Amino acid sequence: MSNQIRFIGASRAAQLVQEEIDDASRSDAKVLITGESGVGKEVVAQLIHQQSRRGRAPLVTINCAGVPDSLLATEMFGHMRGSFTDAHRDTTGWLEKAHRGTIFMDEIGEMSLSMQSLLLRFLENGEIQRVGSERQSTQVDVRLVAATNRRLADRIATGEFREDLFYRLNVIHIDIPPLRERREDIAPLLDHFLRIFSQSHSMERPMFSQEATEQLMACDWPGNVRQLRNVAERLVVRARQGIITTADLPREVLSGPVSPNPSATLAPTRAPAEILFERMVRNGETFWTVVYEPFMARDLTRSDLRELVRHALGITRGNYKNVAQLFNVPADYKRLLNFLRKYQCHLPIQEFRAIPVEHSAAPRSFPEAVGE
Ligand SMILES: Nc1ncnc2c1ncn2[C@@H]1O[C@H](COP(=O)(O)OP(=O)(O)OP(=O)(O)O)[C@@H](O)[C@H]1O
Ligand SMILES: [Mg+2]
Repeated sequence: MSNQIRFIGASRAAQLVQEEIDDASRSDAKVLITGESGVGKEVVAQLIHQQSRRGRAPLVTINCAGVPDSLLATEMFGHMRGSFTDAHRDTTGWLEKAHRGTIFMDEIGEMSLSMQSLLLRFLENGEIQRVGSERQSTQVDVRLVAATNRRLADRIATGEFREDLFYRLNVIHIDIPPLRERREDIAPLLDHFLRIFSQSHSMERPMFSQEATEQLMACDWPGNVRQLRNVAERLVVRARQGIITTADLPREVLSGPVSPNPSATLAPTRAPAEILFERMVRNGETFWTVVYEPFMARDLTRSDLRELVRHALGITRGNYKNVAQLFNVPADYKRLLNFLRKYQCHLPIQEFRAIPVEHSAAPRSFPEAVGE
């Protein structure tokens, strides 16, 4: 993966994850990353490595579920020539390859008990002994980051995971919530993926109708960020001329959340911009309290602010003076414009001027870069 990865997101949860990454990067403590499949555990592991003092040394990833138990020990610790039938020469293990760097043990919950004991022994003394070696063991300097989408507590209860190993690994615990519990991250992630895929496929970046946008925001994303990424790529590749409507969205996104919980239906997900707009236009609150303050406190993203401005320009047909009126700050017209310009949220008015009166049919697209 490229060096430019970062933990993209606008939610409080994403912010917390980023803070935990920053904290973890400052030490050598072991990290356990948990979360559903596709939430970004590997991204977090990579960021910790890159940001840490070990960033220039290798990050070696081991998928514990992908390697048969019989091979895992030799892969990890290396082996000596002749130690088993196919061992034609001495081999360096993953731990040695990661010397001065980081070892990322993915799907740690799948590890067999015998492998767990080997790992535990290594964690106690930092020494490795190649399989079949008579020699003195060597010391390696690696930082361990592990991840799992399993509930390790359940596996401990059933005797499948060693509790002492769990405590060794769980020095810093980073739990990444599923995407449906941090919906504010959907827009910036989508924005990010649309940008990278339209660049890599040399395609125009697609625009979305309001309904299509709402549908993407309301989807439960059971496959989390990975699913969102795949959908974004498909939309870029398949985009025809014009605007993506709900009819163009993949079926998996259209089948809305099926929730037996009645409170979930009482709280439909609405874009932040829409809620803020209503607070100003219906409740008469001012732009400075409703938008400016949360924006400066980073509770509101640039993309939300642009969305809000876009919506207001659609209604006023590109008239910023009327936007100031709508936002209940008519006397602060200049200050409002300066603020929008300073944060690159001042949108050009031409496209809104060209729109016929029924502005509700105006196309909406996701904003350009978010919060960079
Ligand atoms: N916050 C994020 N910012 C940028 N990209 C992300 C983010 N979260 C996830 N991704 C992308 O989503 C995809 C899935 O993320 P990742 O592989 O880290 O998930 P995972 O939790 O390790 O999943 P699994 O449990 O299935 O291994 C990757 O392509 C990753 O680059
Ligand atoms: Mg993973």
